[in-house]
Amino acid sequence: MKLFLAPMEGVVDWVMRDTLTTLGGIDHCVTEFLRITDKLYPDSVFYKNCPELKTGSRTRAGTPVFVQLLGGQAEPLAENAVRAVELGALGVDLNFGCPAKTVNRHDGGASILKSCDRVFTIVDTVRKAVPRKVPVTAKIRLGFDDPTKCIEIAQAVEEAQANWLTVHCRTKTDGYKPPAYWEWIPKIQEKTKIPLVANGEIWNVHDFHRCIEVTGCDSYMIGRGVMSNPFIFKQIKQSLDQKEVELVSWERTKPLLPQFFEASTVFINDDFAVSRTKQWLKALSLKNEEAKQLFEEIKVITKAPEFRSNLEKHCSV
Ligand SMILES: Cc1cc2nc3c(=O)[nH]c(=O)nc-3n(C[C@H](O)[C@H](O)[C@H](O)COP(=O)(O)O)c2cc1C
Repeated sequence: MKLFLAPMEGVVDWVMRDTLTTLGGIDHCVTEFLRITDKLYPDSVFYKNCPELKTGSRTRAGTPVFVQLLGGQAEPLAENAVRAVELGALGVDLNFGCPAKTVNRHDGGASILKSCDRVFTIVDTVRKAVPRKVPVTAKIRLGFDDPTKCIEIAQAVEEAQANWLTVHCRTKTDGYKPPAYWEWIPKIQEKTKIPLVANGEIWNVHDFHRCIEVTGCDSYMIGRGVMSNPFIFKQIKQSLDQKEVELVSWERTKPLLPQFFEASTVFINDDFAVSRTKQWLKALSLKNEEAKQLFEEIKVITKAPEFRSNLEKHCSV
């Protein structure tokens, strides 16, 4: 069974992938989407999106990372996919799920789901351009506004010979509103043979096992759940190995924050590090009262030196 860390633009960057994969349990990562219009990006853009290209397309923990592309034009997508692979990407994932208005207005993400032909053409063109041995994968929602479309969309992705398909089990119009409709996965499985990765609303080990029961998939992707519990993947692996699932305490979680902050200052800069660390602390607050208290205390701090000394005071072990 494979566990995937979900791509999350503005959240799961290189530092976050590095931090989370070091904790164990994650088998596979996907970068934030790189929006493709009509140009071939310079190498620097690929390296910024996926610094792991310089380390064999793997995080320091050794976890493979695929580069995710988003766009509506098949040829430029194929050209950029080929470049990503030349730079060392172990695979290319195509995003057909993004619900953001700006992205959809510019023709990309979930808006493509309105036409199965377009999904087919994009996946097929990229698949044919990229060397056969390098996986090309796709990530979809159930449809734009009609979940019954997911079967036809999955068939189009399969016909275009993608290696696997991640299904975020909601339509674009569902946004991020619970529930996720996992029950569509077996319906897709009835009509296709493409390997599926089930995604949406897995927040804890119990949700994960419910998702297995409903979908019977071999692979699962988790996004927001790991931001509120960084050890969720490790806990899931423990449960799959029939081991005792370790309880996660704030004592174990809090030292991750100063490390993450310092790495983010080096990766981008101080202001970025302050804002990303606050963002993570806010996500952790969902599941943790101590995180919530700390967030309330430091959310107004904007200067890096003051922020750092507060993190050191509250989060050192
Ligand atoms: C802030 C945010 C950014 C996201 N960015 C991306 C992205 O760049 N590419 C993508 O395919 N999905 C993106 N997603 C969707 C997630 O990968 C995932 O499909 C979704 O959050 C559902 O999974 P979850 O319930 O485990 O969070 C994003 C989601 C969020 C909340």
